[in-house]
Amino acid sequence: MQIALANTINDENIETLVRTFYPMVLEDPLVGPFFVEKLGDNISSDVWEEHLVLISHFWAFVALGDERYNGHPMAPHFHIEGISRKAFEQWLKLFHEAVDKVYIPRSGEFFKLKSTDIASNFMRNLRI
Ligand code: HEM
Repeated sequence: MQIALANTINDENIETLVRTFYPMVLEDPLVGPFFVEKLGDNISSDVWEEHLVLISHFWAFVALGDERYNGHPMAPHFHIEGISRKAFEQWLKLFHEAVDKVYIPRSGEFFKLKSTDIASNFMRNLRI
């Protein structure tokens, strides 16, 4: 069955986006290992569940101004050994693929632009 793509951004479809993206990440040979190292390989674990909720709140903050996320998005990335520009490029490719599975192009464009922007900032701060 074909599931309709979302044309407006809300909490529910942000959660769908996040829960679509991270299983793709875990399976990816380049990006997956960074996450397995920090969070383990079982996406159903409590540690992963906490991450998925945190990231859903992060994107709800970015897209909707939601106030549940009040962390420091950049901070943990300083402690990921071996993180590279190539890994960021792959992360973005997967994220954009996930966006296309959930949103119509006009709404998906927002996430693509924002993620590209944020990834550039992260890479600049990481000097990679
Ligand atoms: C190769 C690229 C990336 C890798 C390997 C990566 C990996 C990770 C890992 C392992 C964590 C969990 C850290 C921990 O709990 O100790 C994390 C947290 C997070 N990541 Fe990434 N990440 C990448 C790119 C991005 C990008 C581009 C964004 C945003 C567009 C992003 C947003 C976040 C946020 C918001 C958190 C939670 C920060 C907090 O603790 O408040 N990440 N990332």
